[in-house]
Amino acid sequence: MKEFHSDISGFYKLSMEERQKLISSLVNLNQDEIKILKELGYFTPTQIDTLIENVVGSYQLPLGLALNFKINDKDYILPMVIEEPSVVAAASNAAKMARKHGGFHSDEVKPIMISQIQITQLKDVEASKKSLLENKEKLLKIANEQDPMLNELGGGARDIEIREINTNKGIMIILHLLVNVLDAMGANVVNTMAEAISPYIEEISGGKVYLRIVSNLATHRIAKSRATFDKEMLGGEEVVEGILNAYEFAVADPYRATTHNKGIMNGIVALTLATGNDSRAIEAGCHAYASSSGQYSPLTKFKTDSDGNLVGEIEVPLALGIIGGMTKIHPMARVALKILNLKSASELSQVGAALDLAQNVAALRALASEGIQKGHMALHSRNIAKVAGVPDELLEKVAQEMIKEKKIRVDYAKQILQRLSDSKNL
Ligand code: MEV
Repeated sequence: MKEFHSDISGFYKLSMEERQKLISSLVNLNQDEIKILKELGYFTPTQIDTLIENVVGSYQLPLGLALNFKINDKDYILPMVIEEPSVVAAASNAAKMARKHGGFHSDEVKPIMISQIQITQLKDVEASKKSLLENKEKLLKIANEQDPMLNELGGGARDIEIREINTNKGIMIILHLLVNVLDAMGANVVNTMAEAISPYIEEISGGKVYLRIVSNLATHRIAKSRATFDKEMLGGEEVVEGILNAYEFAVADPYRATTHNKGIMNGIVALTLATGNDSRAIEAGCHAYASSSGQYSPLTKFKTDSDGNLVGEIEVPLALGIIGGMTKIHPMARVALKILNLKSASELSQVGAALDLAQNVAALRALASEGIQKGHMALHSRNIAKVAGVPDELLEKVAQEMIKEKKIRVDYAKQILQRLSDSKNL
């Protein structure tokens, strides 16, 4: 074993096998751990080694399928990558409750991304603004020259927005370049365009440009979905009342709104990962959007219809692509997209919004009735039993015993295991 240190020069130049050897020796991995490190699943060594830097292995998570979704009269099976028990089942359940009332209705999502260009050191802010607006067509032309193919397919830079912000370093103009990115998430294309127009922006504004980067607050790419969830399937009037109370709690209290929205993220992050999209971008955008009133607020809204059914709606920025990024490179993302059977990125965002709404309703239903732990614990207890070293053939037995005794803990699983083996040896 080598002496442990993190200052490993030239690590990136090593082959993946050499890196695996080095890290195994540095942290003293045993044979089983080395075997896991070398297990790349469906990735070839070259594929995985070229995705990011300093690669030593691949990390697997379950891919589950959420069922029962009908969105805009089309049936969908939704792939979800998530480690948390109950989430997939919960989404499927809520989708069934919406299905009884026609399913989800999601609006068309225009794939318009914003690229921000930060213009500083301005001598005459008003004159600079005027000049930028007057030269809009030229700016769009330079931007569009960067991606002729996007233009041919009907996308491209469409408009600009000029914003003035007051900062500790004085007034800055922030130019938003609005680009129709069609079926891509779009960060790469808008970043390229923003960099390309910046020299001209400096020339006509007289300012100095620093940042030129996509905004993940994709306010021109908002996904909206609505559905009616059956009162009886939810558990009756009392549960619906509980959900409405839970919603008002989230409206009034950012501590609760954060957890309310976390439940929504369970859906969208799982779909985002499954389809090879950037989950950090989606989460950052959703949380910023949730704060747009000045107070962090729930991303969903609820009321009842005249029959007492729950009517829910959601509004979230969802910049999801079906081309570009990892979507076509990641073997499982390709499979997930095939399962989804989509025609466009807009459709994926529509599906994402419906899933988010379903996820939220499922969580609120559980919270407003039996509580979240019951559903969680069945799977969780199996995981705990596994951690306690219970062999596969006894997992169910030990898990059930822990649930019955309401003691879902590693030490208790070990006790049960001990008891079982003692009784076997008698
Ligand atoms: C757990 O992953 C998500 C919930 O906490 C969401 C919520 O509280 O609404 C159950």
